[in-house]
Amino acid sequence: MERISAEQIRNWLSEDRELVVYDEIDSTNNAAKQWAREGAPDGSAVIALRQTAGKGRLGRSFYSPNATGIYLTVILRPTLSVEQSTLVTSAAAVATARAIERVTGISVKIKWVNDLYLGGKKLCGILAESALLPGGKLDYLVVGIGVNVSTDSFPPELSEIATSLAAAGGGEIDCNHLIAAILEEFEQVCAQLETREYLEEYKARSCVLGKPVQLVRGEELQEAFALDIDRDAHLVVRLPDGDVRTVSSGEISLKGDWR
Ligand code: BTN
Repeated sequence: MERISAEQIRNWLSEDRELVVYDEIDSTNNAAKQWAREGAPDGSAVIALRQTAGKGRLGRSFYSPNATGIYLTVILRPTLSVEQSTLVTSAAAVATARAIERVTGISVKIKWVNDLYLGGKKLCGILAESALLPGGKLDYLVVGIGVNVSTDSFPPELSEIATSLAAAGGGEIDCNHLIAAILEEFEQVCAQLETREYLEEYKARSCVLGKPVQLVRGEELQEAFALDIDRDAHLVVRLPDGDVRTVSSGEISLKGDWR
């Protein structure tokens, strides 16, 4: 894997932007929040070659070994409402899927809420965190994106559920190119947050729509059928009793072969 550097990423970018690349950091989301508090401009990005405490959703960790993945956090200072800001993770999922396809030719699926999947295994996770101003308006958002690029062995608890671009036959991947592509696609998709245009692509890339799923609530699983993604990127499901319900957060699992 080509070594990641700010200079190499900039070579692929059509416009300059503020970038920091760490060899090692606890979490690029933490570093980005710190930088945002110090005034980092909209669109600035933090990248690390490895994370010692990579964070996932729902209090989980994100496996972030040295120089085999992309660990990237983008700082946004949107003029959006707090409600609209929840759309940013779905925008990041579409942008990252587009970038991966453009740079590697590999087509990836989106598993609601915002994981990218390949061949039924997780390839990429996204974690957004926000900070509010005293009046309740959004101060900044940090959107963390972790992509397994050339990881060839995962810890036992992940080996059956995680994959990497290399494992899917992605060949030699230039991470600097892929990072630049993610940054640019993300900027473009974010421009559609008001109109929600990008949600059509989100739906087209979904690997859950039209399938039986299980809603995960702690230890409890509830059977459901995934019907649609609504304008807020929430999942619309039909329950076994025929009730239609909108699910705004949490997790689903898929049953059977859903590649
Ligand atoms: C998930 O799978 O639940 C979300 C994973 C998000 C991982 C990325 S890697 C870059 C950024 N820094 C972190 O600590 N987490 C995100």
